[in-house]
Amino acid sequence: MPRKTLLVAMDPATPDRQAIRRAAESLRRGGLVAFPTETVYGLGADALNPEAVRTIFVAKGRPLDNPIIVHVAGPQDLAVLTADVPPEATLLMKRFWPGPLTLIFKRSAGVPDAVTGGGDTVAVRMPRNAIALALVRALGRPIAAPSANLSGRPSPTTAGHVLADLGGRIDIILDGGPVEVGLESTVLDLSQHPPVILRPGAVTAADLKPFIGRVAAAAEPALRRRSPGTRYRHYSPRARVTLVAGGDQEAAARLATSHAGKGRKVALLTHGPCPLQGSADLIVRAMPRDLKAYARRMFAVMRELDELGVDEMIIEGVAERGLGVAVMDRLRRAASR
Ligand code: TXA
Ligand code: MG
Repeated sequence: MPRKTLLVAMDPATPDRQAIRRAAESLRRGGLVAFPTETVYGLGADALNPEAVRTIFVAKGRPLDNPIIVHVAGPQDLAVLTADVPPEATLLMKRFWPGPLTLIFKRSAGVPDAVTGGGDTVAVRMPRNAIALALVRALGRPIAAPSANLSGRPSPTTAGHVLADLGGRIDIILDGGPVEVGLESTVLDLSQHPPVILRPGAVTAADLKPFIGRVAAAAEPALRRRSPGTRYRHYSPRARVTLVAGGDQEAAARLATSHAGKGRKVALLTHGPCPLQGSADLIVRAMPRDLKAYARRMFAVMRELDELGVDEMIIEGVAERGLGVAVMDRLRRAASR
């Protein structure tokens, strides 16, 4: 059913109390509220209201078996979600919360199946954004929130992206400006030994190691079982994406020129010296060399190029170290068909 979507701008440093109260009221009535987190914008519903959580799937066009991350205002909120907090989780929460680290726990019976995808675990994180935290506190219950994009589209890093995808489908968008990180949180499964990173993010394997020892990156088949979200084509622009090796701007340029010559509208995204000039059918985008800046821009650039009607994106890969692991993960997904 179409809804009237209210867009409310606020300063993320000092969230407007009255607007937060109204948004929490909407959630309490089963409404859908999009809000900024430090990673990407989330589409929130009361996590303990199964009806409300089900409407998230409808609004996004999300497959029903894909579980949703629950957002809390601190470890104290875990009590309604899980009875089993392992000692390593306590250490990790102390070090990385609030922040872009999602932890998987054994679920309690009170967590709706809609949140867990019917599985026996629940994913939880405490976001590092004052608007998100104020909203969870005002509701007084955890908020279930996937990224606030239509299923299959790149995650939203501005309120404008949310409006473009979900306008008319949700009740409120809290606009706190562009996000800080630009990539979704690291998802860590502590129920396996060694613990497994189901989705790489800004908290890296090297960051986690001092706290939990060896960390594994999930091999594809295991990943598919444990994290249903990774089964679907994800983080994808409409254009076809080809990923070329980092540092080889020449190869990237050759590929771009050959596609553009075939009457396709092409975009070339490099982060090194680019040997090409743009033209009517070739858009050249210089991406930031700094990985943090790259991550922050990546999804927005994909959306911009889609809007320009680009058919092909040729993207130069980045070095797979630190945040580069997460960047490459998203680029590979965008390139997969
Ligand atoms: O940064 C983020 O994590 C953002 C913001 C809004 O917090 N949220 C986000 O949610 O990216 P979503 O739904 O787009 O991605 C959640 C990922 C999916 O791949 C999903 O399958 C996985 O986490 N996930 C959720 N619950 C899980 C569970 N219980 N077990 C395994 N994987 C789970
Ligand atoms: Mg998502």
